[in-house]
Amino acid sequence: MTDSNEFRERGKEMVNYIAGYIDSIEKRPPLAQVEPGYLSKLIPNSAPQKPDQWEDIMKDVEQAIMPGVTHWDSPNFHAYYPTGNSFPSILGDMLSDVIGCIGFTWIASPACTELETIVMDWLGKMVGLPDEFLDEGVGKGGGVIQGTASESTLVSLLAAKMKRIRQVLEEDPDKNKDEYDVLPKLVAYTSDQAHSSVERAALIGSIRMRSLPSDDENAFRGEALQKAIAEDKAKGLIPFFVCATLGTTGCCAFDNLTELGEICEKENIWMHVDAAYAGTAFICPEFRYLMKGIQYATSFNFNPHKMMRVNFDCSALWVKDEADIVHAFHVDPFYLKHKHQGVVKDYRHWQIPLGRRFRSLKLWFVLRMFGIERLQDHVRKQVQLAHEFEKLVLSDSRFEIVSRVILGLVSFRLKVSDEQNEKLLKAINDSGKIHMVAANLKGQFQLRFVICSASTELKHVQFAWEVIQGLTDSLENKEGSVHNLNGANS
Ligand SMILES: Cc1ncc(COP(=O)(O)O)c(C=O)c1O
Repeated sequence: MTDSNEFRERGKEMVNYIAGYIDSIEKRPPLAQVEPGYLSKLIPNSAPQKPDQWEDIMKDVEQAIMPGVTHWDSPNFHAYYPTGNSFPSILGDMLSDVIGCIGFTWIASPACTELETIVMDWLGKMVGLPDEFLDEGVGKGGGVIQGTASESTLVSLLAAKMKRIRQVLEEDPDKNKDEYDVLPKLVAYTSDQAHSSVERAALIGSIRMRSLPSDDENAFRGEALQKAIAEDKAKGLIPFFVCATLGTTGCCAFDNLTELGEICEKENIWMHVDAAYAGTAFICPEFRYLMKGIQYATSFNFNPHKMMRVNFDCSALWVKDEADIVHAFHVDPFYLKHKHQGVVKDYRHWQIPLGRRFRSLKLWFVLRMFGIERLQDHVRKQVQLAHEFEKLVLSDSRFEIVSRVILGLVSFRLKVSDEQNEKLLKAINDSGKIHMVAANLKGQFQLRFVICSASTELKHVQFAWEVIQGLTDSLENKEGSVHNLNGANS
């Protein structure tokens, strides 16, 4: 396809296909029902020598690709956390694709940089971030769009590491140390409920990271942090970084930012806040109590590509002092220099790769085409539906709710062995009717039911519960009462 007329034709067909896909997504099994290696049996093992026909490609999309797709936007998909999807976002991303700029410096595409700075300020205000995080705010802060929360944590950790090393070297009276003397002494902290990407960031950054115990509500508290810092300082280590979580992956628990933050402030520790999923909820003022203590954060991240209807990838990261991040990753090759350098933002200094997409376009489209109010409605509906599911779970004495339902996640389990719960989950996913995943919460297997798609309605929640109850009945019939299996009696 080389001319724009053919693109117009095919483009219309593709938009039609996409709209049809969304309209009928409910008919497809939410979890792909294929075995590993299925695709190599359906498509050739080398690329075509001559162009393939469009019709043949689209036939293969339906016959070969779609059976192997897990449909994250299905109203019956209740696994992980949501991935954003919406028509405004898709349209914005189409435009980004066609512009195709790589906005690593301001001059490489000024609109790419400037729109990002503006929408990050819009977003920061929407979620109630302190002014210091905003580009237009009182301080030296600003926001950047990263690909993922994992990258945001890594970037924050690496920036904190460089900042602390510089400080230690500056304070060294003899001036005979270098960074490699300091590095082995640095220590970072997170909780046993933090996402695996936090541990991974430490591995990549060659940083000693301690995973500290969370409390009975799965929150990271000041006491645990204070104790660890005292132990480490006694060993001559240098505490420098804390990663707190708002909305943990396992059960959507919220760390106590006030307690952690007060300690971090006193100890000169960078506090990064990972609110990958929950951050979107803060656009609703009634959920902002969950981010109490945010003024202590050095950096804050959430993923509009989770609950905010923006398609992957779009992870929003703010820092209170952009110099911390820019200095940490600063290299200056000749070919990237430009005449406005130093006066404008060059986002290449804010991230790990050089290249970057025009991701702010899809975010801008979403913010403008929904407006804050419709996004707030979306969050409230997701939370409301989770509470509906919670009521259904509570109505059946064979089940228990494992942790408090705060946003769109319900953690629950059968009041029997982990093994029985695992069997139930397998049966749920084998059914092809709904899709869920499990979590291991302090050694206990729990089922996670998440409201994911924007098209999930009460009827889907009720349907999911019927599936879960029906499969529980079948398990009981096959293996005897689930109540009796392990002697559980309530
Ligand atoms: C709390 C938390 N942090 C980080 C992540 C990782 O997100 P990403 O895929 O954007 O790296 C997740 C994923 O669900 C999460 O729940």
